[in-house]
Amino acid sequence: MFDTIKKFLPILLSLLFVIACGGFDGPQSTFDTHGPVAKEQADLFYLILWAGMVVLVAVELAIIYIYIKFRRKKNSTRIPSQTHGNTKLEIMWTILPAIFLAIVSVPVLSAIWTIGTPPKNPDVVVNVHGHQYWFEFEYQDLDVVTANELHIPVGKKILINLYSNNVLHSFWIPKIAGKTDIIPNQGNYMWIQGDDVGMYYGQCAEFCGESHALMRFRVVVDTDEDFRAWISHQKSEAFVPNDPLEKSGYDIFMSSKAGCGGCHMINGSKKAKGKIGPNLTHFGSRQHMAAGILENNQVNLRNWIRNPDMIKPGNIMSGQAAVYMDPNKSLTESEVIALASYLQSLK
Ligand code: CUA
Repeated sequence: MFDTIKKFLPILLSLLFVIACGGFDGPQSTFDTHGPVAKEQADLFYLILWAGMVVLVAVELAIIYIYIKFRRKKNSTRIPSQTHGNTKLEIMWTILPAIFLAIVSVPVLSAIWTIGTPPKNPDVVVNVHGHQYWFEFEYQDLDVVTANELHIPVGKKILINLYSNNVLHSFWIPKIAGKTDIIPNQGNYMWIQGDDVGMYYGQCAEFCGESHALMRFRVVVDTDEDFRAWISHQKSEAFVPNDPLEKSGYDIFMSSKAGCGGCHMINGSKKAKGKIGPNLTHFGSRQHMAAGILENNQVNLRNWIRNPDMIKPGNIMSGQAAVYMDPNKSLTESEVIALASYLQSLK
């Protein structure tokens, strides 16, 4: 017995160290809540944790007491009395847990109700489409489509409709709301509210293919004023560049050789009307690219355009765009630089 404990003690201790890495205010900590949904979920976790602790301690104390009290005494040859069944005890340990569970079920059911009931008059409705491997955000009634960076106004109730036409994904913003699965061809919904202005991490939480771990997003909780300014900016048509380098990138983007417009939408352009890939109308205004995994800068953007499969294996662009599939259409280094300049000019 003691040998076994000795053997596993280092593993148990190292587990404690690993747990300590997270911290209660880590970037994706579910304990550092910034909205009513995450708060409700964290409160429920603590309630069940402490209720479970009471049971654990009571049972362990009883076991220790019984070990000591009824242990075999030194030199004793007495055989303990043999019994079978004890109606009183059995009724007690059936009824007590039942009462305990009934009490715990009250806050649990109330939380399920609160989280599962969408707001009757949401301030903003966002249709979220899960793709392999990025999120599309379509602001219903506001005529805005963007990707991977969700802006919401602080303190407002947001209804999120979840759609997928491919595989299962799951929408998760640890500090604002727990996971809700996106069920293909069926849809799902959740509601969220951000109580503090700031940037929050989100990610797909259901295995959806080889780049599942790279399917992330950000939620930016804006003041009311900033949110309205952001929406009106996103509604505007795309910038058409004058700068020679940006302009040459624009020409490559719109050319049939590169064919970018077959998959990407640039609002106001007649040639870029694709809906398979992210809407790039205001790509340059996003802080991050490639579904929240890279900072949006020239170096990362050029690397992405050169070889997206190196950064996000299995993405559709690498597998379908002619510039990656047809060696005769490969982009030259100067074309890559021009494209990156154009895309970042799309503020
Ligand atoms: Cu989408 Cu995992």
